[in-house]
Amino acid sequence: MADDNNKRARLGFDGKTVELPILSPTLGPDVIDIRRLYADGGVFTYDPGYTSTASCESKITFIDGNKGILLHRGYPIEQLAEKSHYLEVCYLLLYGELPTGRQLEDFEARVTNHTMLHEQMMYFFRGFRRDAHPMAVMTGVVGAMSAFYHDSTDISDPWQREVATVRMIAKMPTIAAMAYKFTIGQPFVYPRNDLDYASNFLRMCFAVPAEDYEVNPILSRAMDRIFTLHADHEQNASTSTVRLASSSGANPFACVAAGIACLWGPAHGGANQACLEMLKEIGSPERIPEFIARAKDRNDPFRLMGFGHRVYKNFDPRARVLKQSADEVLHLLGIDNNPTLQVAKELEAAALNDPYFKEKKLFPNVDFYSGIILEAMGFPTSMFTPIFAVSRTVGWISQWKEMIADPAMKIGRPRQLYTGHAQRDYVDVEDRKD
Ligand code: SDX
Repeated sequence: MADDNNKRARLGFDGKTVELPILSPTLGPDVIDIRRLYADGGVFTYDPGYTSTASCESKITFIDGNKGILLHRGYPIEQLAEKSHYLEVCYLLLYGELPTGRQLEDFEARVTNHTMLHEQMMYFFRGFRRDAHPMAVMTGVVGAMSAFYHDSTDISDPWQREVATVRMIAKMPTIAAMAYKFTIGQPFVYPRNDLDYASNFLRMCFAVPAEDYEVNPILSRAMDRIFTLHADHEQNASTSTVRLASSSGANPFACVAAGIACLWGPAHGGANQACLEMLKEIGSPERIPEFIARAKDRNDPFRLMGFGHRVYKNFDPRARVLKQSADEVLHLLGIDNNPTLQVAKELEAAALNDPYFKEKKLFPNVDFYSGIILEAMGFPTSMFTPIFAVSRTVGWISQWKEMIADPAMKIGRPRQLYTGHAQRDYVDVEDRKD
């Protein structure tokens, strides 16, 4: 619980003073607890986009945007990316501690044995057009899970919450791979219990019945690292969407579907697809100045995709790890002189040396390098955000579990600054003037 250390904020207006508690966190800035502000002061706060608003208390992830720090339950993302693996990070996010050997073995077995999808759901995929974006398919299919897994939708039952948790983490790769296979007209590939999480996903995406598929260990390690780096990120837009949807008591499958929909946007998880498309449109280092100029032009809606962040005003630590991984993976795959990676590196250098980007503290974010690795692994750009969604499912579910278990949980219901008409009377149509 945050420390109510008897510090107080005093807000004076209209001849009155409202005293508000200040709560101190383990890490990060103090917060002014404004829960009594409307009751005691008769005013709302106003913060579209929540630039200065803490929406909840959480123990899961901490970000220091000025120092470029990202901790999951206190562990730095750089150490987890180097030493851990995705399912271990899932356990850490869900249960708060690194698992013992036995706990990890049990958790991995539970996830492995829930990777198959209800066979009836195959028909659900067939209702989509073949050229549907895989994110559209995932949004629909994940939402539909609440129509197939009724025995894990009662959120008041801790056991059903646990079953839904494992099902979500286990089945998301299967759903994403099926969405991919469906859109390229290839048969679905069933998961295998003798493969690790990342290898299983790669095989479900790239295997065909006509021949055996051997997982390339370089690719499965890179895939697992990408999953680890995208697992959770505090109260980002899609996580906040899942929390708000869950606050009404909706079932976890429906809430995660809402999170997938939000993640799809190019300002959020859709940026990895938009970033690679931008790098390809730039095409060569010679065109970088043209795009930098467009990004700085306030009359041009173009922005450098994969750059900037609401919280990071320094390097996104995930981008650092992904930049190093991009070099490693492409070298190991024998594509050192990848032109897109070259454009990315020169674009990063040009932007970081430009006064506009320096002044606005715009740095590469998690989406800047991830697409280069995913493309080298054989994925089309349309699969970049689905892969982000597979990884972020554990973040959404961890934050959901934390919120549902909080006895202080209330339905999220923001107020507004109303600037519309004051009350006025109805006018019959014959009395209205053109
Ligand atoms: C993710 O929140 C998270 O944690 C998200 C995420 C996660 O793991 O969940 O980290 C994942 O979503 C990463 C972000 C991916 N999005 C992109 O790469 C899209 C490009 N970036 C921008 O759209 C933007 O930087 C945002 C949306 C990421 C952040 O926007 P903010 O915080 O609302 O900042 P802003 O739009 O108010 O920008 C501040 C200024 C503006 O200029 P002024 O109006 O003050 O003159 O910086 C400019 C912006 O125009 N700016 C950019 C820019 N990003 C911000 N200018 C050019 N290129 C950019 N990329």
